[in-house]
Amino acid sequence: MTPSPSDVPPTLAEHSSDLPPFPFRRGCPYAPPQEYEGLITARPVAKVDLAVGGQAWLVTGYDEVRTVLNDSRFSIDRRHPGFPYIIPTPPQFKTNASLLGMDAPEHGRYRKLVAAEFTARRIRDMRATVQTCVDACIDAMVAQGDSADLVPALSLPVPTAVITELLGIPADEHEFFHSCTRKMLNGSATAKERGEGLLGLEAFLDRQITAKEKDPGEDLLSRVVVRFREAGLTDRAELVSMARLLLVAGHETSANMISLGTLTLLQHPEQLELLTSDPSLVPGAVEELLRVLSLADLSANRVAAEDVEIGGVLIRAGEGVIASGIGANFDPTAFENPTAFDIRRPGRRHVAFGYGPHLCVGADLTRLELEVVFGTLFTRLPGLRALKPVDELPYKDRTIIYGVHEMPVAW
Ligand code: HEM
Repeated sequence: MTPSPSDVPPTLAEHSSDLPPFPFRRGCPYAPPQEYEGLITARPVAKVDLAVGGQAWLVTGYDEVRTVLNDSRFSIDRRHPGFPYIIPTPPQFKTNASLLGMDAPEHGRYRKLVAAEFTARRIRDMRATVQTCVDACIDAMVAQGDSADLVPALSLPVPTAVITELLGIPADEHEFFHSCTRKMLNGSATAKERGEGLLGLEAFLDRQITAKEKDPGEDLLSRVVVRFREAGLTDRAELVSMARLLLVAGHETSANMISLGTLTLLQHPEQLELLTSDPSLVPGAVEELLRVLSLADLSANRVAAEDVEIGGVLIRAGEGVIASGIGANFDPTAFENPTAFDIRRPGRRHVAFGYGPHLCVGADLTRLELEVVFGTLFTRLPGLRALKPVDELPYKDRTIIYGVHEMPVAW
C-alpha cells in the first residue's frame, strides 16, 4: 500500500524550528545555553537552523547522543554534502584526512597507529615532566609580581610544552602555531581567514615531518611517520592532518580547561575548599570540570548514512546531526541535579571526551595535565582570585572549542 502523504514523516527541511539560529550562546561558561532547557528531556532531537545556513538535527539527550556517537549508521565523513558545518569552514577542512573524518574500517586502521602512543604507562611516566612545567610557570608568575593573565602565564604554556615535547617539535615556534590555531578555530572569521590559519599550521607541520623523515628522533611524530610508512600509507596530506589534529587538540583544549576550570573553582569556594583540604578529590574534580565545561560541545558532528529513528524522530539518510556533549552532560536522567557543580559526584559517565569509536585519544593525557595543575595551583597560590567578573570575560563563543581569551588573576 502506498503511504498517504500524512503517513510520511517530514524531512529535515519540512520541519519547522522555533529556536534561534545555532550555535546558541552560553550565558554562563559552566552551564549549557538557556535554549537547552526546553530540549534535553522534552525534545532530545530537535531541528535547528544553522547560523551559517542550512539545517541540522541537534541531539541533546544523554542516550541519544551516545547512540549517535556509537552507531555506524551515523558517519563522520566530512566530504558528505549533508555534513553539518556550524561555523564558516574552508574547503581544506572538508576532507576525511584526519581521524575525525574517517569511518570504520579505515578509521580503526589509522587510529591504531596514533593511539599506540597514548598508552596508560606512557602517560603515567609523564607526570614528573608535567609537574616540573607547572611548577616553573607558577614560579615565574610569583617572580614577576602578584597578578597576571592566567592564559599566557599558565594555561597555554603547560599543554604547549607537553605536546611539543611529545611530538618533538620546536616549542620556541609556539607563538606562530598559537596564532594559526586561533585563526583556524575562530568562528567569527571568514572561511578564507580560517583557511589561512589552517594552511599556516600545515606548512609548519609539513616542514617538521620532512625533517623527521630524514632524521627520525625519539618522539611521537617520528614514530608515527615511520609507522605510516611501514603500513604503506603514503598520502602526505593525511599525515599532516593527523599531526595538525594532535598539535591543536593537544594544546588548545587543555589550555581552555585550565583557564575555565580555575574560574569555575574560584566561583565555587566551598568546592575549592574541599579540593584543597583533600587532594584525593582532585581526579573527581577534574571529571566534574570536564562535564560542566564540555568544551568540545560543538565538535562532534555526523551525517546520517541511512534512515535512523532516534528520540522519536526519523532522521533521514543524508541529514546532518550535531551530538551535543553539553546537552548529554546536563541530562537529569543521567546526572542527578546536573546544574550543581559537585566535585564528589561519583563516576565518569560524562561524554566530554566523546563516546564510541572516536573517543578522544588524548583523554588520559588531559586528565594528567589537569590533575597536576589543579592539585598544585591553589596550594601554591592560596589567595588566588579572579580580577574580572564572570560575565565580563572575553569568551571564545561560536568556536569549535569553547574557551576564554584572557583571564586576569591576582594572588
Ligand atoms: C579538554 C581536553 C579535550 C577534550 C574536551 C577533547 C574532546 C574530544 C572529543 C569530544 C573528541 C571526539 C569528537 C567526535 O567524536 O567527533 C575528541 C577526539 C580526539 N581527540 Fe580530544 N579532547 C581533548 C584533548 C585532547 C588532547 C590533549 C589530544 C592529543 C594529544 C586529543 C586528541 C584527539 C584525537 C586524535 C581525537 C580523534 C579520535 C578519533 O577520531 O579516533 N584530544 N576529543
